[in-house]
Amino acid sequence: MTTRRCVCPGSYDPVTLGHLDVIGRAAALYDEVVVAVLHNVSKQGLFTPEERRAMIDAEVRDAGLGNVRTVEFTGRLLVDLCAEMEIQVIVKGLRGETDYSYELPMAVMNRHLTGVETLFLPGDPAYTQVSSSLMKEVARFGGDVSGLVSDRVHAALVERLGRR
Ligand code: PNS
Repeated sequence: MTTRRCVCPGSYDPVTLGHLDVIGRAAALYDEVVVAVLHNVSKQGLFTPEERRAMIDAEVRDAGLGNVRTVEFTGRLLVDLCAEMEIQVIVKGLRGETDYSYELPMAVMNRHLTGVETLFLPGDPAYTQVSSSLMKEVARFGGDVSGLVSDRVHAALVERLGRR
């Protein structure tokens, strides 16, 4: 029988509770979930790809999601990673219309390139305002993002940005 495998791609700089909600729901739908952490060489992240992966690995382990693993990918198309890893579906969370406008062209392009499908999951309303960039900006100026990222990620943000 074919293993039903999906990918949750993203920058994850850092992973948020919104991301983890989507990863957990994907893990309930598929035999295996590959969380593909994009290493964008032209963009300096707050966390290195290794740190981002380690944070996701730790969260996934704590959540008992044994069918989720992380990989780093860089300088290549997502569809090529999908072909190489025999991934049939890309899973993305949608917080609202802005996400849809951003994601739709990529979903159509990816299907055009290799036929790989994209499954959109409606984001949990509890995390509509949660994005990695907003978490970083708020944390940078001392705002409290606990409850929107895990305690582990919160501690990492505070440590990296040097504010409480
Ligand atoms: O967290 P992000 O930045 O919204 O994730 C975007 C990501 C990684 C899903 C997207 O940039 C991507 O798939 N990049 C890999 C290169 C690629 O395949 N580009 C063409 C997309 S149609």
